[in-house]
Amino acid sequence: HEKLPPFPADFLWGSASAAYQIEGAWNEDGKGPSVWDLYTKIPGTTFKETSGDIAVDHYHRYKEDVQLMAEMGLKSYRFSVSWPRIYPHGTGEVNEAGLAFYDSLIDELVAHSIEPVLTLYHWDVPQALQDRYGGWESREIIEDFNQYCITLYKRFGDRVKYWVSLNEQNHNTNHAYMLGMHPPAVKDRKRFYEANHIMFLANAQAIASFRKHVPDGKIGPSFAYTPSYPASSSPEDMLAYENAEEFTSYWWLDVYCRGEYPSIPYRHLKQQGLAPVFEEGDQELLKQGMPDFVGVNYYQTITYEHNPLHGGVSSGKMNNTGQKGSNESTGIPGLYKTANNPHVEKSNWDWNIDPIGLRIGMRRITSRYDLPIFITENGLGEFDKLESEDQVHDEYRIAYLKSHLHQCKQAIADGVELIGYCSWSFTDLLSWLNGYQKRYGFVYVNQDEEGGKDLRRIKKDSYFWYQDVIKTNGENI
Ligand code: BG6
Repeated sequence: HEKLPPFPADFLWGSASAAYQIEGAWNEDGKGPSVWDLYTKIPGTTFKETSGDIAVDHYHRYKEDVQLMAEMGLKSYRFSVSWPRIYPHGTGEVNEAGLAFYDSLIDELVAHSIEPVLTLYHWDVPQALQDRYGGWESREIIEDFNQYCITLYKRFGDRVKYWVSLNEQNHNTNHAYMLGMHPPAVKDRKRFYEANHIMFLANAQAIASFRKHVPDGKIGPSFAYTPSYPASSSPEDMLAYENAEEFTSYWWLDVYCRGEYPSIPYRHLKQQGLAPVFEEGDQELLKQGMPDFVGVNYYQTITYEHNPLHGGVSSGKMNNTGQKGSNESTGIPGLYKTANNPHVEKSNWDWNIDPIGLRIGMRRITSRYDLPIFITENGLGEFDKLESEDQVHDEYRIAYLKSHLHQCKQAIADGVELIGYCSWSFTDLLSWLNGYQKRYGFVYVNQDEEGGKDLRRIKKDSYFWYQDVIKTNGENI
């Protein structure tokens, strides 16, 4: 290795999770149902009908989990608050027991010098708001989300200085309104763009309120960034790649970081009658939502090729992050379609393994917006094996994380301002659609789709590796 500058002394070495995927206790202590609580109980929606009713029982075992973080030396921990745990009916009365749970979790983290990074929304809309007005499809949600956020700012703003507004709005809405795989499981491009517009407004409003309530804090959205590549240097493929980057990345990033939609895709969608409707005040509100950092959730890159207007793939799907078996090409006629990239390895879940793609992505964001970056997710989902004497030899995960961290170091040398890195995930957790077979954690949890296991925590080899990385501030990366 050439000699690279070290990671900053205050680098936020971390790891991440999301409420629905770890907490369980889905109907305890006054919590209301979220859209996921109901959706996963519809037969056929998830692998082996697995729900997060119990998940990895973090709600009852958070002290043990934080203890494991402390022992590892973790500097930051990203978690999400379950909105219906705080507002069981979406609005109205606050559930004090819900707030008390997060109070204790935050106190526990702070007591161990672990910086809490709080995500306001990681996909679990209160079912009450879905029933009342269709969730993200109604502008009423902007104020309801704002009130929920203000409640958290007031309660936790003294101890929590890093906040993530929306987690992967792009991935979540793509699955909810284009692919029909997340609740409310719709396939409708018009509704997709409308719901996104409302989420952009809610994001901006939540950030505007944040400035008043937590003036010394930092906030930004977490974007599922899957940087695009062209399949070849043919001008047609280059155009397809440019289309993909505009429609599947800058559509979100430009609104977050500039308060404006990128003009080419906006005009294109307007001609087709698909552009979101602007009401009075929208433009001003979007401008109030400028973030302090861009949260990047990175798993892989995607390659695109020319897709003729007539013929070729006609699925109309937009692919942001591939699912297993994503070999099937998807795209939008006239714009782009996905292609295989023979230059990168693939995981056992058919996801591209591309560490340099992370560096490329961070550089694109830096060049375009010149904002600090916080990697809020990066990791490898694999079929881990629990060996005798409670060992998990996940050297493939160590290799994945190490190569990605090396590109982070390179990116810092390139001029990217990277403030932290949260791996996905700390403990194993429920993969929304894939049960427990796809594991990401440093800590194995003895849980499966059948349930009934003892849920004990087991340190994987990667746990000890990351412990050393933190201790040496990434010196050997
Ligand atoms: C991100 C989400 O999309 O990817 C996480 O923010 C999720 O919540 C992670 O678990 C991995 O996805 P999957 O489908 O492999 O579990």
